[in-house]
Amino acid sequence: MNDKPRKILVTSALPYANGPIHIGHLVEYIQTDIWVRFQKMRGHQCLYVCADDAHGTPIMLRARQEGIEPEELIRRIGEEHQRDFADFGIGFDNYHSTHSEENREYATLIYRRLRDKGHIASRTITQAYDPVEEMFLPDRFIKGECPKCGAADQYGDNCEACGASYSPSELKNPVSVVSGAKPVDKASEHYFFKLADFEAMLRDWTKGGHLQPEVANKLDEWFEAGLQEWDISRDAPYFGFEIPDHPGKYFYVWLDAPIGYMASFKNLCNKQGPDDAQGSANVTAGRKPGVTFDAFWNRDSDAELYHFIGKDIIYFHALFWPAMLEGADFRTPTAIFAHGFLTVNGQKMSKSRGTFIKARTYLNHLNPEYLRYYFAAKLGSGVEDIDLNLEDFTQRVNSDLVGKVVNIASRCAGFIKKRFDGRLSAELPEPALFDEFIQAGELIADCYEKREFGRAAREIMALADRANQYIDEKKPWVIAREEGKEQELHHVCSMGINLFRLLIGYLRPILPATAEKSEAFLQVKPLTWEALATPLTGHAIAKFKPLMTRVEPKQIEAMLEASREDLASQDAKKTKPHETRTEGHLAKDPIADTIEFGDFAKVDLRVARIARAEQVEGADKLLRLTLDLGGETRNVFAGIKSAYAPEDLEGRLTVMVANLAPRKMRFGVSEGMVLAAGPGGKELFILEPHAGAEPGMKVK
Ligand code: 2FM
Ligand code: ZN
Repeated sequence: MNDKPRKILVTSALPYANGPIHIGHLVEYIQTDIWVRFQKMRGHQCLYVCADDAHGTPIMLRARQEGIEPEELIRRIGEEHQRDFADFGIGFDNYHSTHSEENREYATLIYRRLRDKGHIASRTITQAYDPVEEMFLPDRFIKGECPKCGAADQYGDNCEACGASYSPSELKNPVSVVSGAKPVDKASEHYFFKLADFEAMLRDWTKGGHLQPEVANKLDEWFEAGLQEWDISRDAPYFGFEIPDHPGKYFYVWLDAPIGYMASFKNLCNKQGPDDAQGSANVTAGRKPGVTFDAFWNRDSDAELYHFIGKDIIYFHALFWPAMLEGADFRTPTAIFAHGFLTVNGQKMSKSRGTFIKARTYLNHLNPEYLRYYFAAKLGSGVEDIDLNLEDFTQRVNSDLVGKVVNIASRCAGFIKKRFDGRLSAELPEPALFDEFIQAGELIADCYEKREFGRAAREIMALADRANQYIDEKKPWVIAREEGKEQELHHVCSMGINLFRLLIGYLRPILPATAEKSEAFLQVKPLTWEALATPLTGHAIAKFKPLMTRVEPKQIEAMLEASREDLASQDAKKTKPHETRTEGHLAKDPIADTIEFGDFAKVDLRVARIARAEQVEGADKLLRLTLDLGGETRNVFAGIKSAYAPEDLEGRLTVMVANLAPRKMRFGVSEGMVLAAGPGGKELFILEPHAGAEPGMKVK
């Protein structure tokens, strides 16, 4: 190792505070966390900060829809996010919110500095306005017919049917997604960041090794297209920070979002307290070493700053953000690391296939370390999409982690415990093999540093094969039965345990929980890269406990089924989960996509009598209903447990979709669907019995 200690600040993109973390998000947090844990193991001062992205129209409207204040919504979602991250082993040094005093302070400061240097312009623009809700409508909050192909129910920015891009004013028969009213044009004053003022600086910066080559190429296209002024203001009502010198105007969510990186870091500094000149005040006081904001953010900072992001938000991070920092006299990022999107079984995550998997749903069924390993094995330094193939996932986790790595410890630990009082031998029989592993560690470190985690995983597995081969050759289980081979047995098993220790050390950034359990087994301090080079000899180890169990296909099935069940209950509540990437996805909620009359005519709606209603063991949301269709009975699972006790339902009439294809669920086959209406939770309403309605009667 020849690294000098480095000061490194790392961020992941801030998740919006209006929806749950799902496995698509986790690619980035896991990628970042692995890199950060690696840097810490190398002995660097590496700090990882993040926050919830709490502002914007979708969050304001979602809170309104739930009948709560936005502050209440973002507090609740912020807590959920942090629980999910913690359970996936994402080790933030600080997690904050963009709706914080620190963020207000830096957003205001940066805006003022940009304004004072003449980088802010103002002009009046005309935009679509909802006269009923009295609010301006972002593009995604307007729907209408596509001006090119005439497809109905298209968003204000592009057509999902023909792919055309246009402005909302071109839509035919536009309606506001919020109220359903016809938008009107309305003028208002807006404030713009003059990005073109920074063109020369940005051209240099984007060529300066701060971006992946494919990202730098993309930026060339954007320069060719010309750098436009960026609208950084929004009119009330808006959930965000009011612009200091312009009452009633707010900073656009994307203005203060990246500033949230600074704010979270500032919050960390405040919590840790400043250090004295020797950097020891905090340590003496039993706190972590202190950090000062300026040491990381001043123009002359010698700290490194890295932002991990998805490829869809490069424009914000590689153009707006460095320009804002430059204009406001702060340092610019050392590098931006973009990654691709996640597909599941080769396709976009899909709610109906059950592959739109929330972090919490995954955690209810599977060990987070499996996913960390699988993503690591698939990740490289580029922006290619990665695929989670669930069969490959099962096979790879079982064969690599359970079959190769954990196995080594279990093959040797018993002998050490039983025959040598739990103590490893005083020297190792094969120092050359140990050295081979240490040498390979440098290549592995290099792969981690360059974010070539897939390559790192392959190198580590090649070593695991080598370790297993050693044990297979030495056959401790045979030596154990032979006379006079005590010392050889001791040596071989101690060697095996030492190789296991190196493998776990190398895997530690990827598998922090397994590493921690292994450290307890080995009775050693948290492993660092430097510590690995010294073998563990004459040392007492603890009793071996299984470190990881196999992935069972039925766990995967159960997770997919639970994800489909989430969907069923969300559909019952008539709210769809929110996507996370752009401002407008909430727009999907108020008006469902339309269907043609012919589609509707195909639906066979019948009156059904609920003959029996029962609890379903293991289901959080479902009840099993036996429906009488006047001569025929059907078994249907309905996501209405939150609203009805089974005994309240028996004997009542409901409307069901009678010709829905039977669907195999975890709990059995569902032969139709029951219709209920209402906002969700306890308020889901089934029809009341009615004298004129007979089971089996057609509805419509
Ligand atoms: O795209 C998103 O999910 C945004 N919430 C990311 C913000 S990253 C940073 F700029 F704050
Ligand atoms: Zn179209």
